[in-house]
Amino acid sequence: MNLFVTGGCGFIGANFVRYVLKRESTCRVLNLDKLTYAGNLASLAGAEEAAPGRYRFVHGDIGDHDLVAALFAEQAFDAVINFAAESHVDRSIADPTLFVTTNVMGTQVLLSAAFAAGIPRFVHISTDEVYGSLGPDDAAFTEKTPLAPNSPYSASKAGADFLVHAFHETYGMNTVITRCSNNYGPYQFPEKLIPLMLRRASRDESLPVYGDGGNIRDWIHVEDHCLGVYLALTKGSSGAVYNFGGHAERTNIEVVRTLLGILGKSESLIRFVQDRPGHDRRYAMDYSLAEKELGYAPKWKFSSGLAATAEWYAQNTAWLDGVESGAYRNFMQAWYGNRL
Ligand code: NAD
Ligand code: TYD
Repeated sequence: MNLFVTGGCGFIGANFVRYVLKRESTCRVLNLDKLTYAGNLASLAGAEEAAPGRYRFVHGDIGDHDLVAALFAEQAFDAVINFAAESHVDRSIADPTLFVTTNVMGTQVLLSAAFAAGIPRFVHISTDEVYGSLGPDDAAFTEKTPLAPNSPYSASKAGADFLVHAFHETYGMNTVITRCSNNYGPYQFPEKLIPLMLRRASRDESLPVYGDGGNIRDWIHVEDHCLGVYLALTKGSSGAVYNFGGHAERTNIEVVRTLLGILGKSESLIRFVQDRPGHDRRYAMDYSLAEKELGYAPKWKFSSGLAATAEWYAQNTAWLDGVESGAYRNFMQAWYGNRL
């Protein structure tokens, strides 16, 4: 396989590039990444050496039509896998502009260029957040659940999903959409709940839990998400949507307390702070379609996955120091301000 991966320097993209190069010994990957604050070349350190001649990085924007079309003209790709996105809900609340530019318009540029170049398959990485929020007793989201996004982030992801669907229906493009629940694991930027709490707790800093801490997420280890994307790429039906989850619904406060237990730190670090506006209460994924059609089954249990992740962050402080740039610190200061 010759794959055109976007956003491969981000959390999930980097894990996927490593995963697929290892799993498929003849697979080649071109990784197009804009290197925003969330993109780090360090997350793919050693990838080139581990797969000589099979990995290439190109610095660029998925919304740059001329660049994307030129890359598609250079060689024949078997598939595009679009991970590139602005991905943090809090940032989308602070300023939605870039979310529409990259997540909606960037996806359209990539779709148009891939269609013009005749690329046989387009795998688009979406999220459970496009389905909106569940009540405590509601059934988990299925692929048939109507889209009802609540944040600028999820609205922009839903916009992209509609475009992918439209390219399939209108132009007959071979597309697959994957929708996954909250990921955790190595190389996640420390603005998301789990790495943020690990980072702050390790320094005995206060831990900002939004609202009452009762919001529920359905956690999946990033390796299980990579498996799902690989199966969707290789076995998914054209035009299909596949949900992926880790069968691990937890309240945020449970997650934070578990992390404190793993680190041996005191719960007195917890601070309940003002809630996120429009904060979705609960996500839960029904991924039985992926089980049935793709043979998907998550391998990680949440307890052991969380312990392994805590260990990874403890061992990789140099990576963390490297990604915490000045721009990142400025956002954190502006966002949390005096809430801590
Ligand atoms: P991330 O923020 O860690 O990484 C995003 C990557 O995309 C970065 O490397 C960034 O430099 C790159 N990028 C951003 N804009 C770009 C552009 N215009 N052109 C090229 N590259 C660009 O995100 P992530 O957590 O790895 O998420 C990857 C994908 O998975 C996203 O589409 C996200 O919506 C989806 N997703 C994430 C989760 C999660 O829990 N993190 C869950 C479900 C779905
Ligand atoms: P996050 O990792 O931002 O993912 P998402 O909003 O895409 O689900 O947040 C996960 C949950 O943790 C979410 O309910 C918001 C909550 N949260 C906090 O309580 N405190 C924090 O500092 C952050 C970043 C998130």
